[in-house]
This record gives sequence, structure tokens and C-alpha cells, in this order.
Amino acid sequence: MNQFKGKTAIVTGGASGMGEFLCRKLAAAGANVIVADIAFEKAGEIAREIRAAGGHATASALDVTDKGAVYALVEKTAQENGRLDYMFNNAGILVVGEIRDMTPGQWDRLLEVNVMGVLHGTLAAYSVMLRQGFGHIVNTASMAGLIYQPVTAAYVMSKQAAVGLSLSLRTEAAGLGVKVSVVCPGYVDTSLYTNCQSVKADVQDVLGMLPVRACRADKAADKILSGAIKNKALIVFPLHARILWWAYRFFPIGMLKIMEGMVWLFRRKARTSEAHDSCIKDM
Ligand code: NAI
Repeated sequence: MNQFKGKTAIVTGGASGMGEFLCRKLAAAGANVIVADIAFEKAGEIAREIRAAGGHATASALDVTDKGAVYALVEKTAQENGRLDYMFNNAGILVVGEIRDMTPGQWDRLLEVNVMGVLHGTLAAYSVMLRQGFGHIVNTASMAGLIYQPVTAAYVMSKQAAVGLSLSLRTEAAGLGVKVSVVCPGYVDTSLYTNCQSVKADVQDVLGMLPVRACRADKAADKILSGAIKNKALIVFPLHARILWWAYRFFPIGMLKIMEGMVWLFRRKARTSEAHDSCIKDM
């Protein structure tokens, strides 16, 4: 982790889950971290804890959908520190439900945060990093950025956009001194699932359909940082995600059947809970 000593890093969505552990671990490795999040109070607490432990951290209230605010934070950070070494575009949200049940507003918000938020952070950091001739942009997508899955279509769409943007930029940026990686985790135990919007769905039911155990958020942050040190194009973890990705590429028909089976199971569970809810109302 010596690579991070004396470096400056912005982490969006740094107040929770993987972003929080990225901030703590970067600071423990000697980096100066900007904990940027829409949840400013929580970001402030984390920055204070890092400083109390002898690290360098500042909290910043940031909504990644606010393009002007993202550019301003990136420029200010680079000016105040004389450099911006790492930009972790990690903030993201999830909506669970079938496409037929989602409102246009739900699509808009998810795409604003997960696609435009990542784009603003990427472009703002890229212009600073081009100017200075170095830097590393690390965008968090998801396993959903590499394979499709039902009942989270907006999320899948947003994460595939993040993968496409990151890998395309990587090829353009390589000769200009800027590195780009994209993170594709499988299931990680974070607040993403408690904070998510469920549309005619129970997120616990959906998680219950996954035949895998969640990875811990601190372990996920380790994987992200070691992938960044190795300048990996795609940082895919944990093992279940690697297996799933492999199966998707080599057994596409089998994967289609599994996904269709998940839709069937999802609808059956949704019907059961509707019946259960109406039973309770009738009592
Ligand atoms: P989390 O919910 O613990 O953290 C997400 C953070 O993003 C929160 O602190 C939240 O306040 C912040 N955020 C949300 N909207 C924002 C906005 N408009 N502007 C600034 N900050 C905002 O969730 P987690 O899991 O740590 O998520 C981090 C990233 O990892 C997300 O992009 C997520 O999609 C991705 N991911 C998560 C997986 C999981 O299983 N937990 C799997 C694959 C990817």
C-alpha cells in the first residue's frame, strides 16, 4: 500500500460501504483523502475519525449529479494539494423491480447518479490529470456491468455504461499518462440494499435468490486498492463474480435459463407476499 503514501484521492460515495473502507484504507496508507458524499454528516464523521487516528481527510458535501459541484471539487482539490492522484467514482444507487413497474422518474434518478455522476467525475478528473500528466481514475461499476440480470434493468444499464466508458477511456488515456480501471464486484454486504428503492419487490427476497455469500465491504476495498496498484483494466471480485462472468461467456444459453428462472422465482415470491399482505389486511 506504499503506493498511496503522500497521494491525493477523492472518493465519491465515501460515507458508506466500499467507499467508506476505501477512504479509511487510503488514509491508513498515507494518502490525503477527500470523503465526498451526499450524506455529508456521515462523511464528516468518517473524516474526523481518520484525522483522530493520525490520517489526512476532509469531508465534502457532494451530489454527483451536480456537474458544477463535481468539477469545482476536483479543481479545488487539485489546486489545494498541487495534484490529484486518484479519483474513485464510487457513489451509486440501486432500484429493484421489474421494468414494467418502474416509473420514468426512477429511471431518471438512477441514470443521473450511476451514469452521469460517474461521467462528471471521470471527465473532471481526466482534464486535471491530462494537465498534470498523471493520475488514476477508478470507476465502480458492478458484475451487472458485465452480464445482464433481471429485476434490476436500470442498474444493469447504468453499470454497463460505466464499464463501456471506463474501458474506452483507458485506451485513449494510456498514452497520455492517465490510468483508468473499472471495478466490477459481485455481491458485497453494504447499505446499498437497505437504501435501495424496491418497486413491487422485496429486496430481501431478491437477495435470497442469490446462491452466494456476500463479500465484506472492507475486503472489497482491499481488492479494489490492490487492483488499482496493479493498474488492472477490470477489477472483478469475489470468486463468485469471477465464476459467474466466466459461465456467462462460455455457457450463454445456460445463463439465459438461470436468469429466466430468477424471473419466475421473483414473480412467484412477489405473488406470495401480495397474498400474505392482503391476508394481513383482511385480519
Ligand atoms: P452504499 O449504499 O453503502 O454506499 C453508496 C454511497 O453513495 C452512500 O454513502 C451514498 O450516500 C452515496 N451516494 C448515493 N447517491 C449519491 C449522490 N447522488 N452523490 C454522492 N453520493 C451519493 O453502497 P456500496 O455497495 O458501498 O456502493 C458503492 C458502489 O458499489 C456503488 O456504485 C454500487 O452500485 C457498487 N456496487 C455495489 C455492490 C454491492 O453488492 N454492494 C455490488 C456491485 C457494485
